[in-house]
Amino acid sequence: MEKIVIEGGNRLNGTIQVGGAKNSAVALIPAAILADSPVTIEQLPDISDVRNLCELLKEIGGKVTFENNTMVIDPREMIPMPLPNGRVKKLRASYYLMGAMLGRFKKAVVGLPGGCNLGPRPIDQHIKGFEALGAKVTNEQGAIYLQADELRGARIYLDVVSVGATINIMLAAVLAKGRTIIENAAKEPEIIDVATLLSGMGAKIKGAGTDVIRIDGVESLHGCRHCIIPDRIEAGTYMILAAACGERVLIDNVIPPHVESLTAKLREMGVKVHTYDDQIEIVRDGTPLKKADIKTLVYPGFPTDLQPPLTVLLTQAHGASLVTETIFDHRFKYVDELRRMGAEIKVEGRSAIVEGPTRLQAAKVNATDLRAGAALVVAGAVANGITEITGVEHIDRGYSGLVDKLRGIGMKIWREKTETEEETTAVGR
Ligand code: UD1
Repeated sequence: MEKIVIEGGNRLNGTIQVGGAKNSAVALIPAAILADSPVTIEQLPDISDVRNLCELLKEIGGKVTFENNTMVIDPREMIPMPLPNGRVKKLRASYYLMGAMLGRFKKAVVGLPGGCNLGPRPIDQHIKGFEALGAKVTNEQGAIYLQADELRGARIYLDVVSVGATINIMLAAVLAKGRTIIENAAKEPEIIDVATLLSGMGAKIKGAGTDVIRIDGVESLHGCRHCIIPDRIEAGTYMILAAACGERVLIDNVIPPHVESLTAKLREMGVKVHTYDDQIEIVRDGTPLKKADIKTLVYPGFPTDLQPPLTVLLTQAHGASLVTETIFDHRFKYVDELRRMGAEIKVEGRSAIVEGPTRLQAAKVNATDLRAGAALVVAGAVANGITEITGVEHIDRGYSGLVDKLRGIGMKIWREKTETEEETTAVGR
């Protein structure tokens, strides 16, 4: 096991590169199952979720290569092998194997991810969608069994706006007979990216990125070449980091409209944010940060995945900021770790009040999930002294080459072996 060590208090300068979007990647890779010839996906982030999915596709008979961020998936010899245990438990997004395998083979067995870090994360809307398309779905000993004689298009209204359910239903519906309409669909850019890949494979999808998606089923799908969108959450994490302890940091490979809610919040706090075609520059000129209230919402609202790092930034702002989390129940777990570093944050239910500015002090802290890890990296960069972060396997699920990238903009950060081997299972977003 490793830990990340940060010597805080250094000003950051330079250019940092953003990789491909994790939340797209974890759906694009299973989508390739639906093709009848090889699919090439470019600019994939080299993160453990991607490597695990690559291995899962090999387990079901796929021929997969992953070199220089490009994955080539030959799905021709895949079989509907049950995946009740093992690697599927390592990433939450293995649920996309359900939609993709159901779509191609009309059957699938996929284990549910083990523990859950952010409170209950039901998949009832995914299942409701599969059933509407004609599948019989049962849950036996922690694995979901799906089976259909044939899949038929249906009108599906999502009771909860869900990224996962929207994409999963798309995956299952592209080869179904007739028209599927998903109402109250999620509108995240990653959904558009998945629809773009599927369309490149020959699927007929309209309305991705709006709350009504129409899919006309086709007989078969073929391989294609697709370049993934940049990771807006990775970009947002670096924007926050630059606002917290940067002087002039250029974030390269970002689609500015995808991080608009964060850009607006940072400007409200007094940070200078310059946006270009595919770059964003963050400039701090010594102006004190102002407090701000945030509320997480579905896209295009403020993303829940950026709530933890932004809360760290708010500890450096003047005044009391209110953070309201509306997506996940247990997304303030990292706050205990921040308190150990001197942060003044009170959590009540789904809200947190952050008093600032506070001088954060280095500590030994533990990342309990991916974005908690991102928050602790920002806190470590701001704090006085040397911070040690364990639970690095969570961070590795979503940030490729984080240490090297941050060193490139002047952060004193490195990895070390931990003295004790801890049993940790990486499950989460
Ligand atoms: C995705 C992202 C995650 C992000 C989240 C919200 C991936 C792999 N992960 O997660 O990074 O934080 O969107 O933007 O893309 N819900 C139900 N029933 C369901 C499905 C969801 O009640 O069947 C609820 C969830 O508990 C949650 C809300 O709906 O409260 C949103 O969840 P959803 O959009 O599905 O999140 P994920 O797809 O799991």
